[in-house]
Amino acid sequence: MSTRERTARAALAEAAVAARHAPSVHNTQPWRWRVEPDALDLFAVRDRQLLAGDPDGRLLTLSCGAALHHAVVALAAEGWTAAVSRLPDPADAEHLARVTLAGRTEVTGAAMRRFQAVRLRHTDRRPVSEVPADPAPVAAAVAEYGIHLHVLTRDQVLDLAAAASRADRVETGDDAQRAELASWTGGDRPGGTGVPDAAIPDRAPETTVPGRDFAHAGTLAIGDGHDEAAVYAVLYGPGDEPADWLRAGEALSAGWLAATEAGIAVLPYSSVVELPAIRTALRNVISGVGYPYLVLRLGTADPDAAGPPPTPRLPASETVEVARG
Ligand SMILES: Cc1cc2nc3c(=O)[nH]c(=O)nc-3n(C[C@H](O)[C@H](O)[C@H](O)COP(=O)(O)O)c2cc1C
Repeated sequence: MSTRERTARAALAEAAVAARHAPSVHNTQPWRWRVEPDALDLFAVRDRQLLAGDPDGRLLTLSCGAALHHAVVALAAEGWTAAVSRLPDPADAEHLARVTLAGRTEVTGAAMRRFQAVRLRHTDRRPVSEVPADPAPVAAAVAEYGIHLHVLTRDQVLDLAAAASRADRVETGDDAQRAELASWTGGDRPGGTGVPDAAIPDRAPETTVPGRDFAHAGTLAIGDGHDEAAVYAVLYGPGDEPADWLRAGEALSAGWLAATEAGIAVLPYSSVVELPAIRTALRNVISGVGYPYLVLRLGTADPDAAGPPPTPRLPASETVEVARG
């Protein structure tokens, strides 16, 4: 193997390791990478799919799309342009993407800043401050993936609040969903997956739109903020198939990293897209111009209070396999 081949392979392996920091529903990290000499293959891991909450694998695929984008960001910070082939094997639905190196490129300041945002990005479930957030950088970043943000009007936010409460009532009233939530959230999460108590508010924030009901209080201290100055937006796109969900996940990561760089705190709401009836209602909100993938709350975090600590991740040995050869 030449020095260049060795360098390329090391960059691919490092990108797969960096992708561990990607956000995922309930921090399930439902992905596996295989590092080939000249490519990186991304596979869905159904063992970590939320079978009750996400039977179709939409949120799993969105999460894998976010990991895919993280890997490409890591490669750019090492001076590599990546080519991404989505769902490259029609006979294998678990094979979500193949990343190959298209060539060397200059490492720009923008590429370095985006990579630094990978380590800083996190979910912030606290209320937001009164400083308004500008959704423009997030909208521009998701548009690069053919995905759009529909910013909700005040009245639509009230409809969203009603939908989020209904979704939570349905989910917490369902035995299978309750058991699944309990198995993925709460405690210290020493296994490296799931949402720890440290990331869950110690009381329900006073917000118009309720955050996900984790069915118990966590230990994250929250201030007196509200969500008056928050922007609620639907992330939507042209199709409702796995390839669309994957792209939406890439866009989610791009938008979230852009938000992190702009000092915007992000909170995703997926309970409103988990139930078909509520997803259809959300589709009507965007006048049927596309399919909703997720709702995002964008806001400015209280600058004087410490945010949640980083959530755990699986060790690289569990998500990255280096093929021989
Ligand atoms: C597709 C998707 C859906 C999510 N849905 C929710 C949600 O409904 N409520 C919530 O509080 N967090 C949600 N999250 C945030 C995850 O719980 C979070 O990314 C994960 O726990 C890892 O934590 P981190 O983002 O702080 O790294 C979602 C994340 C993704 C990628």
